[in-house]
Amino acid sequence: MDNRQLEDLLASMTLKEKFGQLTQITGELYVGKVDDEMVETGPSYPGHVLEEETLYAIGSVIGASSAKMTNRIQAEYLKKSRLKIPLLFMHDAIHGYRTIFPIPLGLSCSWDERILRRVAEETASELRAAGIHVNFSPMVDLVRDARWGRVMESFGEDHLLSGNLGKAMIEGYQKVSDGRISPAGVAACLKHFAAYGAGIAGKDYNTVDMSLREFYEYYGKPYEIALQEKPRFVMSSFNTFNGVPVTASPAMLKEILRGQYGFEDLLISDWGAVAELMKHRVAGDGREAAELALNAGVDIEMVSTHYLAHFEEIVEKRPDLLRDVDAAVRKVLRLKNELGLFEHPYADEAAEDTILLNPDALAFAEEAGRRSCVLLKNENETLPMRPEHRNVVLVGPFARTRELLGNWACKGRFRDVVSLKEGLKQADGSRSVAAFDTLEDCPRDVLERCDYIVVAIGEHWEKSGEGHSSVKLEPEDEQQRLIRAVKATGRPYACVCFSGRPLALQDIVDDMPALLWCWYPGTRAGAAVASLLTGQATPSGKLTMSFPRYSAQTPIYYNEYSSGRPANASSYSSRYQDCGIGPLFPFGHGLTYAGATYSDFGISGSRITDTEDLKVTFKIRNPSRYDYSEIVILYIEDLVSKTVRPVREMKAYRVVEVPAYAAVDVEMSVSLEDLKYLDADLRRTVEPGAFRIYVNDLDRPAFTIEY
Ligand code: IFM
Repeated sequence: MDNRQLEDLLASMTLKEKFGQLTQITGELYVGKVDDEMVETGPSYPGHVLEEETLYAIGSVIGASSAKMTNRIQAEYLKKSRLKIPLLFMHDAIHGYRTIFPIPLGLSCSWDERILRRVAEETASELRAAGIHVNFSPMVDLVRDARWGRVMESFGEDHLLSGNLGKAMIEGYQKVSDGRISPAGVAACLKHFAAYGAGIAGKDYNTVDMSLREFYEYYGKPYEIALQEKPRFVMSSFNTFNGVPVTASPAMLKEILRGQYGFEDLLISDWGAVAELMKHRVAGDGREAAELALNAGVDIEMVSTHYLAHFEEIVEKRPDLLRDVDAAVRKVLRLKNELGLFEHPYADEAAEDTILLNPDALAFAEEAGRRSCVLLKNENETLPMRPEHRNVVLVGPFARTRELLGNWACKGRFRDVVSLKEGLKQADGSRSVAAFDTLEDCPRDVLERCDYIVVAIGEHWEKSGEGHSSVKLEPEDEQQRLIRAVKATGRPYACVCFSGRPLALQDIVDDMPALLWCWYPGTRAGAAVASLLTGQATPSGKLTMSFPRYSAQTPIYYNEYSSGRPANASSYSSRYQDCGIGPLFPFGHGLTYAGATYSDFGISGSRITDTEDLKVTFKIRNPSRYDYSEIVILYIEDLVSKTVRPVREMKAYRVVEVPAYAAVDVEMSVSLEDLKYLDADLRRTVEPGAFRIYVNDLDRPAFTIEY
């Protein structure tokens, strides 16, 4: 369609049809409940009994999957709809559709935009094959509190990294070419604007209260960065922000998102969030709720249907909103047109099977799985297991299971997953691998013969994700007992852990000589992890979220503000009396088998100016047989400033490919921009004075520069 035709279509629509385009419902309203092909990602809302004329004026459907199902709904809809504007189908494929990749928090530990982009590309191809046009991903909510179940969907605690990885995913989903989403791409929906990750006490859907300075510097930044890639959608968040539910906040959605961050496309509410304005008690009834959301700039109401129920009263009272309604409908029609829906409303059912779970995507899922794992501890080179370890016992609740996809695994199927046991067997067919859920199951002679034990523990996948906040992050007692029992065997052993969030390991960490953190690696889980355990490849991931020692140490994050009484051994310092200082494993921590060394540090000058960046240079030497990716992080510390600054702040990072036995020269820049910050009066400023720059950790040489 050309623009003229789109405008004609818009002009021919009744008000009800316009509000229909601004409403999203579940597919069962057209074809009845079909398990497995239709997922519900929130509570049902009454008011869903839509009369036929309204039902066939709706704009989009959430949660339906498979080419067969989306085609069935589309056909049913187009048959009865007056204007025959095809439906948009939207879904949550946050780490893959049928081929499942590591959970986003795991992916972020690769720090590699290439990996995230490719995950999104593969996901988009599968979604599009299934007739889905919009993906509710990426989520760039900054997270500092592992109690929040949704940390698994995030990219961790740093704003710069979260923004960049989100941006890479948007690029991968949309596959824009010549300014349009390509036929194998989907519209990305950046979520949840904003600050949803800062709910008080890590409780899902909870209040968010923060200064605007904190918002602009940290929580808002990932969106600001990711928006540069022009996602076609943004989803507003469930939470209140400084007293106003975001769904009803013109300050957040109009002034900041659209005004300051320049977002021009479609804004969708979260599931039922318009109706929830009544639960927040800022709206007395459905009409008020709808008016508040429309007034705040929410274009599409997800699942609840108050826009449709009350549009007549709303436009009568607020005729000024009609302009916004037309603008929103125009955006919906343009997106449908950009996606080619008017010409091709149906998915190709025959092609779907050839696209889902294709071997290239699976091979890449394995690579992504490897790159997401983080080696947290490795005393005396316990890992990798050595060639002479011929008889391996694998024990624990994660030894044999295929439930390694993680939550929100969309159409992922356990039957497609490689378990850890299968992965270890495939890695070396000549090794004997016996797997048991508990040590008691293991026959005595097998235990006596074994020369290496892998303990596979973790947190069940259903314990993280939306609505799964936890107060207890310590591993289950039974798992701690298992580790101690394995220790008592006297055999060499290593631990692997699967989880959707950092756990609190202080009481068990000393009993783990080696610990590989696998998150939830997805369809190729067992193969990816086995390649690291057996030394076919080295772990290379680094943490993007700090690990607390105990649950009560959350929230915890690396870039905390300087305190007047920094933590030290004295009781008059900012610390807990019954817990060590700082996280157990900090942001940026992660070991490899490569034993690389850093040397030859240099800096191009000692003074930074408005026009010239400083270059930090160094060499990485890899004495090992592993080709791998070394993650390098550059931090700055502002030594004195008028407004309190974080103790340190990441300003740049690089994923450096380091071939086996090679040395690589690395150069990183620091610019004046990197020294700027928002002062207490929300002015972007840089003050003359000294700054310290260092790479990875303070053990390495630091440079002091002046501005
Ligand atoms: O996309 C999700 C969102 O993250 C949480 N509520 C439901 C939405 C749609 O499934």
